Amino acid sequence: MDDQPTEATTNDAATGRANSRTAHGLRQRRRLQMFLMKSREWLIPMAILGLGLVFPAGARAGVDIEAAKALARQNNCFKCHGISKEKDGPAYTAVAEKYRGKENAEARLIEHITSGEKAKFPDGHEEAHKIVKTSPPDDMAQIKNLIDWILSL
Ligand code: HEC
Repeated sequence: MDDQPTEATTNDAATGRANSRTAHGLRQRRRLQMFLMKSREWLIPMAILGLGLVFPAGARAGVDIEAAKALARQNNCFKCHGISKEKDGPAYTAVAEKYRGKENAEARLIEHITSGEKAKFPDGHEEAHKIVKTSPPDDMAQIKNLIDWILSL
């Protein structure tokens, strides 16, 4: 008789703990998901900021033209973009012209080739723009080099 309530209390306490642990776990997971979602939005600007801090201005201006072209070739960018010839997409010289003197040009274009945002084709249809692939994956230095090359044209 004496044991009954104690056992019940213990069980209740155990169940309560288990419940709160599950709820806590869920909350934690949701918080992690939110964090990952938010951090994805921040990843690119932060990476750019990081590169800006790591490389002094001189090094930043230096573009590896051959590496940029090679990455563009591997990604079939030239199927839709000529360097100076308009195809389905604008010529890269026209892109450089459009963004000349714009402060956020690099970040804007990195976003353009990494996010799969909608691209409008000359025939009026829209589809997700090609997302650049690097080896190793998501190599921001290679992506940045490609965009810097386009902007330098
Ligand atoms: C299937 C065709 C296609 C491929 C492949 C393609 N693009 Fe594009 N790209 C387009 C089109 C179409 C636009 C115009 C988008 C718009 O104005 O809405 C565009 C626009 C752009 C722009 C200009 C964006 C702006 O804000 O003005 C850049 C830079 C660009 N592409 C780079 C690339 C790079 C780098 C690659 C390869 C990784 C690539 N594209 C592959 C079709 C393509």
